[in-house]
Amino acid sequence: MERFFEKIIKPILIKYEPSHIVEIGVFLAGRSTIKLLEFCKMMNSKLTVIDPAPGFNTYAYEAVFSEELVLHKKHSLEILSEIETADLVLIDGDHNWYTVYHELMAIEQIATKTGEFPIVILHDTEWPYGRRDSYYFPETIPLQYQKPHAKKGIRAGSSELVDTGGINEDQHNAMNEYGEENGVLTAIEDFLKVTAFSLSFHRVNTNNGLGILVPKDTRGDVVMQFIMDTSGL
Ligand SMILES: C[S@@+](CC[C@H](N)C(=O)[O-])C[C@H]1O[C@@H](n2cnc3c(N)ncnc32)[C@H](O)[C@@H]1O
Repeated sequence: MERFFEKIIKPILIKYEPSHIVEIGVFLAGRSTIKLLEFCKMMNSKLTVIDPAPGFNTYAYEAVFSEELVLHKKHSLEILSEIETADLVLIDGDHNWYTVYHELMAIEQIATKTGEFPIVILHDTEWPYGRRDSYYFPETIPLQYQKPHAKKGIRAGSSELVDTGGINEDQHNAMNEYGEENGVLTAIEDFLKVTAFSLSFHRVNTNNGLGILVPKDTRGDVVMQFIMDTSGL
């Protein structure tokens, strides 16, 4: 996600000045969380971070950014229903259909309360996880939504996982690519079929993909301008 910060996320922050930002999946906070917190400090905004296993010293961040940061060490689907408002949501947590689809449905519930769908930025919308589930925490996914999966690597051009090498071989990856309810991009497409909001969806295909959902108004054109120049990403 942080590869997109300077060219896409920062311009969105500057243009729309979100006052309530939600970041799902942070891993190492130095990457984008610290930049979001610096923005919040300048703009008097709030950042809600959701990650059951953040890979950084959360106590130091909570102390330094006590006014700006609310941290939930939980899974996104446990906490999103408690969130009252959001203008910008960044999703980079568990990369599977069930989680992403239900995260978007939960955001729709927040939007129903506020009357406005937030700008939602999702990472890993292209290969390898656009059309293939991966499970950080398989035990949190109902069995009927878990694709057969294994801790084996992924290789471009092969639907099946490979026995040696490949990428992300230490993760629980779905054994096959494509098919129904498989992958992050499929979850977004399925959400777009059912949402009551009028949204446009924009894709950047570098760095495993970035997807941006925005209300169908002038924001779509603005985001299009931000994503036109992806050179150097
Ligand atoms: C790919 S990393 C995030 C990288 C980060 N956004 C960045 O740009 O550096 C994924 C993170 O999502 C977290 N995660 C996994 N499942 C999650 C869930 N259901 N809700 C929230 N976070 C989750 C993991 O603990 C991990 O820290």
